[in-house]
Amino acid sequence: MIEVQGVTFKYDKITALNNVSIQIEKGLKYAILGANGAGKTTFLLHLNGILRPLSGKIFYDGTEVTYDHKSLVKLRKRVGVVFQDPEAQLFSATVAEDVSFGPMNLSLSLDEVKQRVDDALHACGIYELKERPTHSLSHGQKKLAAIAGVIAMKPQVIVLDEPLAGLDPRHKDMVLKIFASLNAGGVTLLMSTHNVDLAYEWADRVIVMNDGAIAANGTPFEIFSGNNQYISKPVVLEIYQRLLLCGFLKDDKRIPRLKDELIDDIEGAALNLPQGGAPP
Ligand SMILES: Nc1ncnc2c1ncn2[C@@H]1O[C@H](COP(=O)(O)OP(=O)(O)O)[C@@H](O)[C@H]1O
Ligand SMILES: [Mg+2]
Repeated sequence: MIEVQGVTFKYDKITALNNVSIQIEKGLKYAILGANGAGKTTFLLHLNGILRPLSGKIFYDGTEVTYDHKSLVKLRKRVGVVFQDPEAQLFSATVAEDVSFGPMNLSLSLDEVKQRVDDALHACGIYELKERPTHSLSHGQKKLAAIAGVIAMKPQVIVLDEPLAGLDPRHKDMVLKIFASLNAGGVTLLMSTHNVDLAYEWADRVIVMNDGAIAANGTPFEIFSGNNQYISKPVVLEIYQRLLLCGFLKDDKRIPRLKDELIDDIEGAALNLPQGGAPP
């Protein structure tokens, strides 16, 4: 769906991306890991043309991305970005105005725009904030409003730059539920995060960035099962692998990705033990 070919990008003299190549497949969820300064944000901002490669190319559905106004408008209709800082995203006086800003530029009827705004606000659980001034919202509410603004554009791909940073558990949960429902509707998601536990349980593919380059790219199990110098191991996988090593669990089933799956495996193994017995 998106193909990035040998992209290099510099901010003045700082090389932020160094010959990055990757294919993004339709409908999948990608987690992007990497230390601060690894190039995650710079990479994500290339996907909808906010940044333009110094060298290299990007293709969307087989067509090379070009940077004239018309092509960029088309690209941004397909690829939405939720910035790390919602303050950078919200600029209208009220939530409704902000969420309607994108759709208003799509030459839709006014009714269609209103419908999209209402649907997006409902999808994000913030319909009651519709007439609120954006500056009066909490950080979590601002994040939800920023996501609603992107959803109202009905993009095929949504790029999320550390979307959970600074959110409380309830807002994290809300945001993850919104992402799940978008992805169930076929939207491709790319999310940068520092949370390896989330990347392991959430993503279809994990991309690890280091120093402006892609250090690893694979399924969560491929990325996390070995020892990777750039990232720590998810807790569920670490406990599972230790329990395999000591013989308490056997690797004859699916590999647990969720905490509850691991607990099921442990309870199952414990129930098979002779009373008061030690693991074999
Ligand atoms: N606006 C900018 N001006 C100059 N250098 C920048 C700017 N934004 C990022 N960089 C540099 O580019 C590199 C990659 O940064 P970034 O893409 O923000 O990484 P990440 O999102 O993984 O933390 C870092 O060395 C960072 O200091
Ligand atoms: Mg960043």
